[in-house]
Amino acid sequence: MRKINNPIHKRKECERMKILSFGHALPKRTVTNAELTQFLDTTDEWIQSHTGIESRYIMTGRETLSGLGAKACKLALEHAGLKPENIDYILCSTTRGEMTFPSTACLIQEKLGATCPCLDVNAGCTGFLYALDVADAMLASGKVKRMLVVCAEQVSRLTDWTDRGTCVLFGDAAGAAVCEAGEGLKSIHLAAEGDAKPLHAWPSGGNSPFDDRIPEEQPLYMNGQEIFKFAVTHSCHDIETVMQDCGLTADAVDYFVLHQANRRILDAARSRLKQPAEKFPVNITTHGNTSSACIPVLLSEMAEDGRLQKGQTLVLSAFGAGLTTGAAVLQY
Ligand code: ACO
Repeated sequence: MRKINNPIHKRKECERMKILSFGHALPKRTVTNAELTQFLDTTDEWIQSHTGIESRYIMTGRETLSGLGAKACKLALEHAGLKPENIDYILCSTTRGEMTFPSTACLIQEKLGATCPCLDVNAGCTGFLYALDVADAMLASGKVKRMLVVCAEQVSRLTDWTDRGTCVLFGDAAGAAVCEAGEGLKSIHLAAEGDAKPLHAWPSGGNSPFDDRIPEEQPLYMNGQEIFKFAVTHSCHDIETVMQDCGLTADAVDYFVLHQANRRILDAARSRLKQPAEKFPVNITTHGNTSSACIPVLLSEMAEDGRLQKGQTLVLSAFGAGLTTGAAVLQY
């Protein structure tokens, strides 16, 4: 694997956007590890010891991704005391949109009854950080006043449910943040190493008589060990980069909110930063890996139960398909 050392965006004076509030939504159906053992050659013990996951939320027939996304947005708006008409732009991060088109952002906008422009972004599981970076630039330019950044993910509808090495890992969820101009984002560092081999998913549909490719049998492929090594190395590097950028020590950080891909990856990052477990909130146990929704859903849950308070300093870090990585320092 190539070594990533090419930050594509790094600004010292990055005080141009802040997050006002969070909201999240989860599918109704919980699927436990025990349930998976009914149709997969796996065990609760293997899943828990290798990933930390005990259960995940999975979308069923009637649930739509835009429905989940709109619910998360409505809650975020409610928590900020705002209405859909107060929003100038909806940016949706999704790795598997509800439809190829329209964008999931447009479908969410319709459900919200908003009238602003809408756009989807896809940076794999790093999508929340990439979307925040776009929101920061748009808010800083004065082009928009207030934005909804929503991460809506339905990875369960992408995975091969006969592949025990991947389907046990993921869950579905949506997390949203209301953003406006302000002094919240202190530093952001993003990187990408275009390489589809270790982690990719194929689209479906179309029947061109001129296309003689053999359809891919496995919709989602992941080389788990390669991604694991990539994650530990690059997450720690990214976190150290943004902390140095702000002259911040680990002790001064209230929470390290990391992508929830594997409990062991979180533990490795925690031991490298020599910080207590309470500073590394987790929801992977009950949610699995919800791709780009992991971080905003976790922040929303922390705001709901009172762990997250205004003024706290957060370090966010994620990695995912692309391969992409990113980290940010955010004052809530
Ligand atoms: N149940 C039982 N056994 C299993 C299962 C399962 N669910 N899955 C794999 N195994 C078996 C394998 O077949 C293998 O058996 P073998 O030794 O007989 O061949 C054995 O367990 C070990 O498999 P490994 O792949 O080596 O297991 P590992 O310890 O690496 O754990 C895991 C796999 C959990 C996927 C880990 O590598 C990981 O978390 N990687 C990172 C994944 C990640 O972070 N993805 C994020 C990006 S996702 C996105 O962007 C959409």
